[in-house]
Amino acid sequence: MINPKVEAALNEQIKKEEHSARLYLSMAIWCEVNGYPGAATFLYDHTDEESMHQMKFVHYLNDRGGKATLSELEQPESNYKSLLDVFKQVMQHEEYITASINDLYGLTVEEKDYTTGNFLQWYITEQIEEESLMRTILDKISLVGNDKAGMFHIDKELEAMVKSKRTATAVE
Ligand code: FEO
Repeated sequence: MINPKVEAALNEQIKKEEHSARLYLSMAIWCEVNGYPGAATFLYDHTDEESMHQMKFVHYLNDRGGKATLSELEQPESNYKSLLDVFKQVMQHEEYITASINDLYGLTVEEKDYTTGNFLQWYITEQIEEESLMRTILDKISLVGNDKAGMFHIDKELEAMVKSKRTATAVE
């Protein structure tokens, strides 16, 4: 049976991952209706990735004899000032999720639940990758400023990132 404190914290993380999916979905919608189809494709794809993060927690918790629980979620922001604003918020959100995963890991050490600590290693690595990817995108957007041609190029690049990821997954 899983430690009840760890179970509660995992359920809290399940909520955060579900919220992440909805936040990125909301951002994708904003991008799609504001002339950034590539950024929309990228964020729709990232929505799926967050749902996958949530599901991994759900299965793990249930497999360990606990019970995954869904919570009420707050409505994600639907208005953004610019593409720069969107990715600034993505970055902030990923940093928040990283801190949350680290706290969760800390709890597993405190509670001597090394199995869950081991399971969390995947998320710790994933957060390094997510932050690095988002930081790269944010830097590029910051660099082009208000240059429309530059922004158009970045939007195309975001679309290409998703296509190359799908090709790589298909080859695996
Ligand atoms: Fe589930 Fe983007 O972290």
